Amino acid sequence: MRALGLVASPEALAAPDYHPPHAGDLAVTGRRGKSVVILGAGIAGLASAYELAKAGYRCTILEAKDRVGGRNWTVRGGTTLTDLDGRTQTARFGRDQYMNAGPARLPQSHLTLDYCRELGVPIEPFINQNANALIYNERTGAPVQQARTAKADVYGYVSELLAKALDQGSLDSRLSGEDKDRVLTFLSGFGAIGSKADGYAYTGTDRRGYTVEPGAAGEAGTVLGPPPSLTDVFAGQVGRYVSFEFGYDQAMMMFQPVGGMDGVPMALYRAVGADKVRLGAEITKLTNLPGGVEVAYKDKYGKSQLVKADYCIATLPPHIMARIPTNLDPAIASALGFPTVTPVGKIGLEYSRRWWEEDDRIYGGITETDTDLAHVWYPSYGFHGKRGVVIGYYNTGGSANTYGALTPESRLERALAQGAKIHGEKYKQGLLSSFSVAWQRTPFIEGGWVGWPSRTSGQYDLLNKPAGRVYFAGDWLSYFIAWQAGAFDSARYAVTGLHQRVLAGG
Ligand code: PHE
Repeated sequence: MRALGLVASPEALAAPDYHPPHAGDLAVTGRRGKSVVILGAGIAGLASAYELAKAGYRCTILEAKDRVGGRNWTVRGGTTLTDLDGRTQTARFGRDQYMNAGPARLPQSHLTLDYCRELGVPIEPFINQNANALIYNERTGAPVQQARTAKADVYGYVSELLAKALDQGSLDSRLSGEDKDRVLTFLSGFGAIGSKADGYAYTGTDRRGYTVEPGAAGEAGTVLGPPPSLTDVFAGQVGRYVSFEFGYDQAMMMFQPVGGMDGVPMALYRAVGADKVRLGAEITKLTNLPGGVEVAYKDKYGKSQLVKADYCIATLPPHIMARIPTNLDPAIASALGFPTVTPVGKIGLEYSRRWWEEDDRIYGGITETDTDLAHVWYPSYGFHGKRGVVIGYYNTGGSANTYGALTPESRLERALAQGAKIHGEKYKQGLLSSFSVAWQRTPFIEGGWVGWPSRTSGQYDLLNKPAGRVYFAGDWLSYFIAWQAGAFDSARYAVTGLHQRVLAGG
């Protein structure tokens, strides 16, 4: 029977690893797949339907937008957006040009890559760190410099300081003589500092870069130098961002789907079946009944509709879900209103020339700034092509609100003025088109992501349990918020709980 797929493997439901629902699980208990209505066709909603379908559950997804994917949204030529302020934009990007307005990078450890593999979504490297990208600290007045230069100076001076302290015996209570030697050997390589005879001084090396590159015959190159003083390096705060790449989920290698991040939801959509998804369906009421659920919605023609199902998986953002009338315990609505919402913005700038590659030799990666642009991303696709889309800002919080409050034209103007401080006047030249998103002003989403003021005060646990026949899922119910992997894993969690309940006769 197991060979025929009619029996669950005994360890299937007990193992901590994920085991997708299987038709055999139901067959062995003599039960049939139930019907499930899923609210939201973002990653959590699509993944829930995809996983449940593996065991033959009948799913219907209700999605308020006219597309699937939620925040996983790739903007291409012709893509339109009307925001909550009634501002409509239509992207004019050229062929093969796009911007990932939401998620845009995938760490190697994340479940999202497993889904890419399973669904056949091709991936390519995403360049998250680039030694040739820039550091721009406006507030300290430090000169614009390559990340490699900032790193060389910060690691160099820190190594010098520590080597001197060791040499002077300041850390003798902590280190044996052998330890000291080993740490000094490490520092010599890490910081490229001088020898004991040189007082372990950091004086700069070619790690900082060159003003004239080495070449043939007599051209030995001219090293960029000397480094600014230790005081200036730290006063300039150029090291403010260099530890970013140590982050567990921000370290290279990183990946992106070839052709746009929406390759992920589109593959899920195809797998689930377009006939299972009702687009333009705005939920108006959710009723939990003793034997099922009832969801009322307004369809794309404005007509009231009702769906009945055995169960519901609600994957809307919590702050949106909190507003939908339900007959659930009021504690649920209050818990849904508990997370705080982070505003997030991005602008795509399409240029007729890849000046960042041609002039600045920046092939992908991110320039870090302390301005309201926050991060400037160079594309990790289309190298040496004719055009390219730079992400002119990727910001959060107050900066995202500043740009979000502006018209798309004013956002562009401000982003160009700010970017020109880093890249010069060419930043304003050869611009073909632009498109910006302020997630907090985007209908049915209204935020970039959320944060829990506390995960131990009850609300998080409450929503990770079913409320009657209603399950909740989304990145916001995981420990990796603002990552698709969180949405995938949360969907798996809800699906597993639901399936176990059905197997148990619930
Ligand atoms: N996942 C998003 C990103 O990569 C948001 C995020 C940033 C999450 C940094 C965690 C850390 O930009």
